[in-house]
Amino acid sequence: MNNWKRAVCALAGIVMLASVGACGGSRGATAGGGGVNAKNPSDVTVGISMPEQQLERWRLDGDNLKKQLEGKGYKVLLQFADNKTDLQASQIQNMANQGANFVVIASIDGTAVGPAAEAAKSNGATVIAYDRLIMNTDACDYYSTFNITEVGKLQGQYIVKKLGLDSGKKGPFNIELMTGSPTDNNAKYYFQGSWSVLEPYFKNGSLVSPSGRVPKNLEDWQSIGIQNWDRQNAQSEMENRINSYYNSGRHLDAVLAPNDAIAMGTVNAVDAAGWNYYPIITGQDAEKANVANIVAGKQTMTVYKDTRKLADSTAALIEKLVKGQKPKTNDTFNNNNKDVPSILLKPVSVDKDNVKKELVDSGYISAANAGL
Ligand code: GAL
Repeated sequence: MNNWKRAVCALAGIVMLASVGACGGSRGATAGGGGVNAKNPSDVTVGISMPEQQLERWRLDGDNLKKQLEGKGYKVLLQFADNKTDLQASQIQNMANQGANFVVIASIDGTAVGPAAEAAKSNGATVIAYDRLIMNTDACDYYSTFNITEVGKLQGQYIVKKLGLDSGKKGPFNIELMTGSPTDNNAKYYFQGSWSVLEPYFKNGSLVSPSGRVPKNLEDWQSIGIQNWDRQNAQSEMENRINSYYNSGRHLDAVLAPNDAIAMGTVNAVDAAGWNYYPIITGQDAEKANVANIVAGKQTMTVYKDTRKLADSTAALIEKLVKGQKPKTNDTFNNNNKDVPSILLKPVSVDKDNVKKELVDSGYISAANAGL
């Protein structure tokens, strides 16, 4: 694209991408309606690129979003990338080739996905980062997510309260910390939220990590990251720590597990150790098997992010853009290149006391699946 065309496209982006069709090269006449002011909803194509479908949440995200968008009459291309960055890039490229007016991307690696997002954008698509931010590129128009720092805070606050640190108990309590995938920008924000709550107790000595696996500072969060948020990787990590530091009867009071897969790996490691108790174990996503573990007293809490709401708000964002209206955002996130207008939803802390109210009564999960 030459400079004047680039400038025209940038301007068009500001006035709701009104001329996205002209910014691409290879798209057909209908798609040229460009997501905006399209005559018929069926002229609008939305590509959805999800990172994987091993984790229930991404299947739900994909399905909910597809249903919402198809309900509005749009054509939807949904793909899951099996946690392979190359596959995700080619799937996105494919969506662009098929004339997607929008691509909604939950990246595997927020940085590695940049060139694919750029290709889609230069082909005329509006790029929406879904749940995870796309880093180091201008090709990220919006970010639709939950309040990611708040998620980490809820986990930290839960541990503090449950141990009684906020009501004067001094411990010292033994805690083990893990963070999410080093490739996922979210993982940093989750840890930042948790650390903002836990760090003061490390400083005054009421929390200690016998393994010494504590980041030197926030920027060092990847040093305790679990690659791909993988349950098995988390289980191996926790088995190592348990065998090395807790095998002579030392009590493990709490584990900061940033999502449900890592929580499940932790529960499995505790089971393998044959302990007669479970430490406080946090989580995130309210996956069915984890909710059942909460009810059974194995995992202690999870942070519930209603994927239906995320799908709703993302679909509503797209609909606004299709209609040429300005979408309502409530925050911005900097991706190292720009401040990305963002929509942040509210996460909810769930333990066995409010499982029924939050998850079952709201229809997110059945009583039978929750083990109630
Ligand atoms: C994060 C996401 C979490 C969790 C995790 C593993 O980016 O925000 O909800 O699912 O990935 O997939």
